[in-house]
Amino acid sequence: MTTTLTNQQVRLAARPVGVPKDSDWQHTSEPVRELADGEILVKVIYLSLDPAMRGWMNEGKSYIRPVGIGEVMRAGGIGRVVASKSPKFAVGDTVSGVTGVQQYWIGAADDKAAAFYKVDPSAAPLPKYLNALGMPGMTAYFGLLEVGQPKAGETVVVSGAAGAVGQTVGQVARQRGCRVVGIAGGKEKCDFVVNELGFDACIDYKTGSVKDGLKQHCPNGVDVYFDNVGGDILDAVLTRINMKARIIICGAISQYNNTTPVKGPANYLSLLVNRARMEGIVVFDWADRYPEAAAQMAQWMKDGSFKSREDIVEGLENFPKTLLMLFEGRNFGKLILKVADEQD
Ligand SMILES: NC(=O)c1ccc[n+]([C@@H]2O[C@H](COP(=O)([O-])OP(=O)(O)OC[C@H]3O[C@@H](n4cnc5c(N)ncnc54)[C@H](OP(=O)(O)O)[C@@H]3O)[C@@H](O)[C@H]2O)c1
Repeated sequence: MTTTLTNQQVRLAARPVGVPKDSDWQHTSEPVRELADGEILVKVIYLSLDPAMRGWMNEGKSYIRPVGIGEVMRAGGIGRVVASKSPKFAVGDTVSGVTGVQQYWIGAADDKAAAFYKVDPSAAPLPKYLNALGMPGMTAYFGLLEVGQPKAGETVVVSGAAGAVGQTVGQVARQRGCRVVGIAGGKEKCDFVVNELGFDACIDYKTGSVKDGLKQHCPNGVDVYFDNVGGDILDAVLTRINMKARIIICGAISQYNNTTPVKGPANYLSLLVNRARMEGIVVFDWADRYPEAAAQMAQWMKDGSFKSREDIVEGLENFPKTLLMLFEGRNFGKLILKVADEQD
């Protein structure tokens, strides 16, 4: 069965300088080989498009090795096992793991880099497993609760508020009884986080001053800042932090396509004045506790107190241009690429 299949793939052709260009990618196709003992074949259904992908395309030391030139681009995905020579997964199982930007993943069922695990398609719609019940949700949940340590009555500010991580940060903080103020680009996104997700307020950084917005919406200062964007917004929040504030450095998307060095915070001495703390996070550090967070958020989803929004674009071949949506703020919710129909 497997030998008649063809696998379309997107590979990294060159290391981008600034915003990735079409020529930084190569579209390839190859026949799907026969399975060896212990292997599975996974048909990819949805791919997670993440800002971190931009970092994985660069050479240099990071928390994960860069994608090599000529390699299939790394991506998390959800797929279905369509052939199996492993007792670990059966044909028909739905799995989540690092599938890469391709139609089929083939390899050992216990491959550590792919890290496949079963998901229950009847418990939640599959895209949720790439959003609140997947990596972005885990990032938000543990980053906020473990590093941010928000207490009831405190003010939590989150940038990238309408995005995958930001949506969950704000809602988990609300669950903890905090005042939550988002920062997002545009009225539609701001209205969404306030009216749909229950944030207390949202600052539209594209049409007004973040400093003024913080003054207005955080009258008691900022106790926790969950930073997804870095740059000028981080600097503005630093001017409003409280004594012993916690700043979680989750990402700095405003800096990822820089051709000049990353812009550090000019106002960092506010940490000194306020005896505050700024700490970076990498979601994988909580990998052994993912089930705990997923169960909690699935419960909140079930009782209607937690929502998540996905933005789904179709077609593997559209990967290069779809990825750019993240850096232009054109995604509204967790950005997902649909590669195949769920029922196929
Ligand atoms: N540390 C970790 O383990 C970890 C794990 C997952 C994600 N992250 C980081 O978390 C952040 C959010 O990721 P996500 O997956 O949730 O993405 P996302 O928020 O769903 O999408 C990216 C959003 O970033 C905003 N943005 C883009 N350029 C910007 C700029 N120049 N200034 C301000 N905002 C800008 C846009 O929203 P607006 O329209 O609102 O501008 C865009 O929609 C990223 O920095 C990512 O690298 C870190």
